[in-house]
Amino acid sequence: MTILKIARMGHPVLNRVADPVADPTAPEIRKLAEDMIETMIDANGAGLAAPQIHVPLRLVVFQAPGDRADPGLAEDEMFDHTAPLTVLANPVIEILSDEREAGWEGCLSVPGLRGLVARPSLIRYTGIGLDGQAITRIARGFHARVVQHEFDHLDGMLYPQRMDDLTKLIFESEARHFIRQD
Ligand code: NI
Repeated sequence: MTILKIARMGHPVLNRVADPVADPTAPEIRKLAEDMIETMIDANGAGLAAPQIHVPLRLVVFQAPGDRADPGLAEDEMFDHTAPLTVLANPVIEILSDEREAGWEGCLSVPGLRGLVARPSLIRYTGIGLDGQAITRIARGFHARVVQHEFDHLDGMLYPQRMDDLTKLIFESEARHFIRQD
């Protein structure tokens, strides 16, 4: 496997609409997904979209581990806040609730910054896995946020473009002024 170079904000590949994956079961797509996973883990990210490694295809990898879910949730509410390591080709999102939730986001293509982004809090998403089978899940919390963030990359959108209030676009080193550190 290979750790790939990550495109940073300003590279045109991050601003274009990515192309569908013709065959999610193709060996070259599996190799691409494996390299994306290795790159994401190396960079300590929760997700990565193919345009971020200069490949304009509708392919994302992500994970929503339990320790990034909102603390204080009841045990039986945890399930759709978390997601295993997932590869999805040609994903679509359906918004299931008018409710929006604000949360801090970062992006491997916007290094060093954090932004407060309001997003729909409850979604259903569907995509094709590397085995050619459809994956459909309902997601809330951090899980819903990371999925929407990654899918935005496929339409040429970075999280600052989703922000209502750019005073909440900050350097990580200043996060202590905004994010309570217990
Ligand atoms: Ni990102």
